[in-house]
Amino acid sequence: MTAKIIDGKAFAENLRSRIAGHVERLKAEHGITPGLAVVIVGEDPASQVYVSSKAKQTAEVGMNSYKHELPADISEADLLALIHRLNADPAVHGILVQMPVPRHIDPNKVIEAIDPAKDVDCFTPANVGKVQIGLPGPVSCTPLGCLMLLRDELGSLEGRHAVIIGRSNLVGKPMMQLLLRDNCTVTVAHSRTRNLADIVRQADIVVAAVGRPQMVKGDWIKPGATVIDVGINRVPAPEKGEGKTRLVGDVDYAAAAEQAAAITPVPGGVGPMTIACLLANTITTASLING
Ligand code: GUN
Repeated sequence: MTAKIIDGKAFAENLRSRIAGHVERLKAEHGITPGLAVVIVGEDPASQVYVSSKAKQTAEVGMNSYKHELPADISEADLLALIHRLNADPAVHGILVQMPVPRHIDPNKVIEAIDPAKDVDCFTPANVGKVQIGLPGPVSCTPLGCLMLLRDELGSLEGRHAVIIGRSNLVGKPMMQLLLRDNCTVTVAHSRTRNLADIVRQADIVVAAVGRPQMVKGDWIKPGATVIDVGINRVPAPEKGEGKTRLVGDVDYAAAAEQAAAITPVPGGVGPMTIACLLANTITTASLING
């Protein structure tokens, strides 16, 4: 079997054009222009790239984008003061503080400072709880993107066995909640799970979010399974020249594609969905804030 490639880039483009339509309607019918504030502390190059694409795509769908670039040595108190100002600013409907923050700043204090009504990452305890009990509000961006791709590929997910590899607050745990809500049977495995290969072999749906390059082997995939690869790992690529690198996922893509019915590539699979879902969450918070 050679798997169908799930084109997250095309799906995200389509989603962004629907979001742009929502933005138009919010402006025309309610006089609201959704505004997203993105805060970055320090100069980590990967974070800079993510934040620039978030700001660019925010503007492209017609929302206001407010970018706050802060020096790496900013005090925790000054960062929290900025978050409080953004909480109080009626033009701002979403606040995202790019993680990780420098070591002298406590990320939990940062997260808890964000008004849950503007928490477009779905990081605050209030919103994590809402997802758990199924109340409306923002939903973690990467898991939401994975869910959209799965529903598009499979239709109903009911009764399917999903194995998630990874238990992070950012992906693994919220993914578990969302798949449970869609009536999957969910197993959460992780880097310390025993007999991981045997567990993954039982999966109708595999979500790999463990952060280890190509850890999931082709012969772990049940024939006909759907594979969602959340990993983004930069590895050396000597075949491209000295010092060159390439991106790979957490799944051995070529071998898994021989077994799976459908699989997301890296890049071009889950990655583009994350930012599109961030914009979708900003529509959600802007709509909820304005009743
Ligand atoms: N760092 C890596 N991914 C994310 C994300 O989805 N949100 C935030 N705030 N920081 C991140």
